[in-house]
Amino acid sequence: MSFLTIHNVNKHFPQENKPLTVLNQIDLEIQQGEFISIVGSSGCGKSTLLRLIAGLDREYEGKILLNGQPVQGPDLKRGLIFQEHRLLPWLTVSENIGLALEETVLSAAERKKLVQEHIELVGLKGFEKSYPHQLSGGMSQRVAIARGLVNKPDILLLDEPFGALDAITRDILQKELQRIWEQEKITMILVTHDIEEAVFLGDRVVVMSARPGKIKRIIPIDVAHPRQKENAQLFNLRNQAISNLTH
Ligand SMILES: Nc1ncnc2c1ncn2[C@@H]1O[C@H](COP(=O)(O)OP(=O)(O)OP(=O)(O)O)[C@@H](O)[C@H]1O
Ligand SMILES: [Mg+2]
Repeated sequence: MSFLTIHNVNKHFPQENKPLTVLNQIDLEIQQGEFISIVGSSGCGKSTLLRLIAGLDREYEGKILLNGQPVQGPDLKRGLIFQEHRLLPWLTVSENIGLALEETVLSAAERKKLVQEHIELVGLKGFEKSYPHQLSGGMSQRVAIARGLVNKPDILLLDEPFGALDAITRDILQKELQRIWEQEKITMILVTHDIEEAVFLGDRVVVMSARPGKIKRIIPIDVAHPRQKENAQLFNLRNQAISNLTH
């Protein structure tokens, strides 16, 4: 049995005349610990699919099973990270991360320890008491990653997390994400417009076609981790993914 099963998922949004079909027969089996990248043109339904997996939207046809159980609404076991970091400006780095633990039964001491561990995991030691306006975009996104991971979710969903960052910061955070994924052995699904990022990080790259979003191709990236950006095989796979998107 797969860790995450997406079976024959169709999604429509109501419209005045006829419903807008956004996802069409999506089938995907994801194994525990796998890194899946999803690419596709704007509006093909990538964020919609992540929202369904996260349990934020339950209006769909088909099945989404995590560990064999239907996804029944948002759960701490599924972390979600957005393009903008969505930190609360009046809370410090530690407090923003700690917020994700509010609904847990952990003691204050346990929470503090977890928050500190995750601050270190994302390389923000020394910035515990900083406020979001004192951080760069890349640092804010590191806080968002720590907040997404602090609950020890079974799966982390990332919706264009580095889209708003400059190329150099993005490059650094891609490598950091690879390290965190290897260290935490967590299942990740990354939506991105950056093909190189998709190929660099993914065990498989899911290429979606334009609306209604369908899976056009799944490209296995059989390159061992940790990977180097300069890897020639990755470069070839990137070109293959680009030609899949454009043809
Ligand atoms: N709440 C909603 N109500 C109606 N239509 C919606 C809603 N959310 C999304 N859509 C429509 O569904 C389609 C897919 O949107 P979605 O945000 O999933 O695309 P995307 O692949 O994430 O695009 P992008 O790459 O630009 O982020 C779009 O046509 C959008 O207009
Ligand atoms: Mg989107």
